[in-house]
Amino acid sequence: MVTTQRRMTNRMTNEIVSGVSEVIRVELNDTSDAALAVYSTRRLTAAMGFSVTNQYLIAAAVSELATNIVRYAGQGKITIKTVRNADLEGVEVEARDEGPGIADIDQAMQEHFSSGNSLGLGLPSVRRIMDEFIIDSKPGRGTTIIARKWR
Ligand SMILES: Nc1ncnc2c1ncn2[C@@H]1O[C@H](COP(=O)(O)OP(=O)(O)O)[C@@H](O)[C@H]1O
Ligand SMILES: [Mg+2]
Repeated sequence: MVTTQRRMTNRMTNEIVSGVSEVIRVELNDTSDAALAVYSTRRLTAAMGFSVTNQYLIAAAVSELATNIVRYAGQGKITIKTVRNADLEGVEVEARDEGPGIADIDQAMQEHFSSGNSLGLGLPSVRRIMDEFIIDSKPGRGTTIIARKWR
């Protein structure tokens, strides 16, 4: 299920008027939900004026986070939204689940570490693609990852 809140901002003169202010929430239960999160990310980052290359990269990061949730936690939620910091505009992705959590975060962040016999490049590439990356995970309690990219 996807819910979208959209607010067009139109501030006073002499300020750069930003096109979109939007929050997209995608509940993840299977891979088709992950595809929806990826599609929504492409649409939002395009509307925000990210380059086509960055649209694809940010969508790839969302794909990795969404796939991890479906695969390791079974279900969870991704929130994609516009954020501002002074005159910077960016996109924030929050991936949250209440799955098994990650016992050793340093190990999980290493290239080619995988507990599931796959490539183990997901989290390292998300960190590389995005400008900011915060991971919080506790065994048995779940995982929250917040990543931002500024335009
Ligand atoms: N949401 C999550 N919940 C629990 N464990 C996770 C989650 N995301 C990642 N992990 C753990 O971190 C490891 C590394 O993830 P990643 O870099 O995406 O590689 P891969 O998915 O190919 O294993 C996974 O193998 C898994 O053990
Ligand atoms: Mg992965």
